[in-house]
Amino acid sequence: MKIKKNYNLYKKYISSSPENTKKIAQNLAKEFKKGDVIALIGQLGAGKTCFIKGIGKSCGISNNEIVSPTFVLLRIYNGKKIIYHFDLYRIKDYKELENIGYREFMAIADLIVIEWADKLEEIYNDFNWIIKIDYISEKQREIKIYKR
Ligand SMILES: Nc1ncnc2c1ncn2[C@@H]1O[C@H](COP(=O)(O)OP(=O)(O)O)[C@@H](O)[C@H]1O
Ligand SMILES: [Mg+2]
Repeated sequence: MKIKKNYNLYKKYISSSPENTKKIAQNLAKEFKKGDVIALIGQLGAGKTCFIKGIGKSCGISNNEIVSPTFVLLRIYNGKKIIYHFDLYRIKDYKELENIGYREFMAIADLIVIEWADKLEEIYNDFNWIIKIDYISEKQREIKIYKR
């Protein structure tokens, strides 16, 4: 995905472990506001779900509860905030997302997190945050945080 002009690089980290990635996410989560949409971009195994576990932790949601939806498009977590977790890895088109109520959820959610958010151009304008994670080595990841 070409990061659009209207997003600015806000922070950049090199994470050295999954725990480190969760901490970075947990800290960033303090800045999220009601209704924020967080796009996660990165290859399989980059650490997108790991990052979301950190966001969940900041809302009192257990790590085990948060898994990649994989065969389901959406999981919903009820913590201090209600988080809608989409994974677009297997999505066919935007219509499929619309059909499960994406627009309606946008209106009521505290937070929306979307893995593989770059799959559907139709939603590029929805993001408040873009988290781009790149694999460096077995334990290292580059994490770039873009903000609208
Ligand atoms: N620094 C790191 N940050 C995040 N995950 C890491 C890191 N180092 C190793 N890993 C491993 O990479 C994998 C990331 O998996 P996951 O979060 O499910 O990726 P994705 O959702 O992007 O496919 C996990 O097995 C995790 O233990
Ligand atoms: Mg995942």
